[in-house]
Amino acid sequence: MPTEVFILNGVNLGTLGQRRPEVYGILTLNYIERILEDEFPAVVFEFRQTDYEGEMVGFIREAAESDGLVLNPGAWTHYSYAIHDSLEAVDVPKVEVHLSNVHARESWRRHSVVSPAVDAVIAGMGASGYVAAVRYILSRLEDHR
Ligand code: DQA
Repeated sequence: MPTEVFILNGVNLGTLGQRRPEVYGILTLNYIERILEDEFPAVVFEFRQTDYEGEMVGFIREAAESDGLVLNPGAWTHYSYAIHDSLEAVDVPKVEVHLSNVHARESWRRHSVVSPAVDAVIAGMGASGYVAAVRYILSRLEDHR
């Protein structure tokens, strides 16, 4: 069975490339997804983006059947206990990714309510953060083989 990884992007991440490029970069979400496919040809990716919290909770539940999930929750990072709780119930390797270095920005961005429910957090690496996150998930799967 091929390795399946969910790449989940939350609120406002569908506008990447246009939204504050000086902070989030010039790459569109679609382009980042193609980078992942090129980098990991043996992995089957499920790419999902939504601006609706309940829909994201559904995607996280679906990822329970996969080999791992990478999530950029956008602004939900900072206040969504619903996203936290749904992640907590999913027992696969989980990585929280932020394109920007949230620790070098407004003080409210420094706190994530989601981080306690994931295995690893990456911030400030731009699109490379997603690549690093998938690499981590694959290494975790190797450890358990
Ligand atoms: C973000 C950081 C969040 O604070 C912000 O609300 C986003 C994007 C990032 O990728 O850097 O929407 O998650």
